[in-house]
Amino acid sequence: MNTATKGPQHPQHVLPPRGAALLHDPILNKGTAFTLAERDALGLRGLLPPHVHTIEEQVTRVLQNFRSKQTDLERYIHLLSLLDRNETLFYRVVADHIEEMLPIIYTPTVGQACQQWGHLFRRPRGLYVSWADRGRVAELLRNWPHPEVRVIVVTDGERILGLGDQGVGGMGIPVGKLSLYTACAGIDPAQCLPVMLDVGTENQGYRDDPLYMGLRQPRVRGAEYDAFVAEFIEAVGQVFPRALVQFEDFANVNAFRLLEQWRDRICTFNDDMQGTAAVTLAGLYSALRLTGQKLRDQTILFLGAGEAGVGIGDLIVSAMVEEGATVEAARRRCWFVDSHGLVVKARRDLAEHKLRYAHDAPGAPDLRSAIEALAPTALIGVSTVARAFDKQVVEAMARLNERPIVFALSNPTSKSECTAEEAYTWSGGRAIFASGSPFPPCVVGGTTFVSGQGNNSYIFPGVGLGVVASRARHVTDRMFAAAARTLASLVLPSDLEMGRIYPALTRVREISARIGAAVAEVAFQDGLAGVERPKDVPALVESNMWTPRYRELR
Ligand code: NAI
Repeated sequence: MNTATKGPQHPQHVLPPRGAALLHDPILNKGTAFTLAERDALGLRGLLPPHVHTIEEQVTRVLQNFRSKQTDLERYIHLLSLLDRNETLFYRVVADHIEEMLPIIYTPTVGQACQQWGHLFRRPRGLYVSWADRGRVAELLRNWPHPEVRVIVVTDGERILGLGDQGVGGMGIPVGKLSLYTACAGIDPAQCLPVMLDVGTENQGYRDDPLYMGLRQPRVRGAEYDAFVAEFIEAVGQVFPRALVQFEDFANVNAFRLLEQWRDRICTFNDDMQGTAAVTLAGLYSALRLTGQKLRDQTILFLGAGEAGVGIGDLIVSAMVEEGATVEAARRRCWFVDSHGLVVKARRDLAEHKLRYAHDAPGAPDLRSAIEALAPTALIGVSTVARAFDKQVVEAMARLNERPIVFALSNPTSKSECTAEEAYTWSGGRAIFASGSPFPPCVVGGTTFVSGQGNNSYIFPGVGLGVVASRARHVTDRMFAAAARTLASLVLPSDLEMGRIYPALTRVREISARIGAAVAEVAFQDGLAGVERPKDVPALVESNMWTPRYRELR
């Protein structure tokens, strides 16, 4: 049989399941909320306790159990088990309690889950595309039970958050990210596909662990690796031709090249670079509302010159150019310190992606000396080095600036360059602070500070929604710039007053809808949309949003 030309087959959606099979279908299952009429019609009588519960009562039960758990990891397992049983209820719980749930289903807790993936494993979720299955990737994709995949998040697990190579355990990230697409932007869960490309792991500890679930071999590299990724992308084109492919947590040795290779050929983006860049740029726009300055006048110093840092730098440069700066002048406003010191022209050890920020200037061996030499107005940590912003660093920023901008973006919390409390304490309460993972509110000098989380969840779900709604062929930097401006415009004066440079996460569905409309608008303007421009773009976007409520089944 020629599988390349065969369409996807989804027997259970031709004939909806009944009875026990229905209770085991997480997309259709309602548990105790099946009405008596549905129980009769669908062969469920007796298979459920007699009382019919509302979804609100079910949410109460989930929350009680969730909150009684001792550790965040147990809470994660609890929620993932719910996702396996009843997706509607899971998304209702998450959407209605987003601030409480996000740190569990995503960073920081998801990092622990990835590290213990083989030990926590209960049921498979997502698609595992192994190097051992090369040559038949399209066949694997056809095994996926849902035909209308619109968003794929794929990782190879090599750089999971700031935790390094997690091998096949990296699957926690696509699973988590896609649940955020649904919770934050209402992408239909049946249209989401998490993918783990398993090409081995350099982590000897995992390879020696009897419970490790991936290939126990060093990572495939070079041309063979590229060919494997290409096979995957081409298979997606055959089986799910309308899908957006989001690259996630690839190591930077591969991430930059893959993005360059594919961004103009398929509908794709890299959230670590482009999503992070947009959320950080939005944070800077808000910070500048507090300082009253212009973006093009900032001197921005990055600690870490990897995917996140260079991605942020590139978007800042294009935003400065929109304010009238030249590309050269804008680049000279962005400086990077990596593990060998300040990135300058004289260095001979620089990777390709850093060269455009290697300025003709004297070197500096470390962060502190770079701060003294450059007097930056903003310091952005994307280094994965915990505590790299020590007391002297923050004090220096506070000496040089009335309102120093300090973003400690490395994830998870254990890798953050400093805590919110440290930034506020060491700057005498003057820092404009944001972090990658959330910190609780803190009281410094009698003032309560609620710091913002530069959380990509503000951006990528809305971008994905705009792409899905407009059927955009590509995802462009102009879309991310539009997303950043939209996000910044939604920050309220009351947010800024308490030190928060992002809107409350509780508004994330509204935020995603607005970003989706802005992104779709760019797709229409730039001739990238696959549908006719409707009169009402926001209405088109909202009509693509799935809400977690039970539909009547008969
Ligand atoms: P990466 O591996 O591409 O880059 C890390 C960079 O840090 C490299 O340039 C490396 O040379 C540098 N570095 C390592 N040790 C250093 C040291 N001692 N001093 C100075 N620089 C050092 O990783 P990527 O993707 O750039 O991510 C970095 C961090 O940013 C991660 O912790 C990640 O979780 C976080 N991140 C946060 C986001 C957010 O908050 N929205 C989004 C994306 C990433």
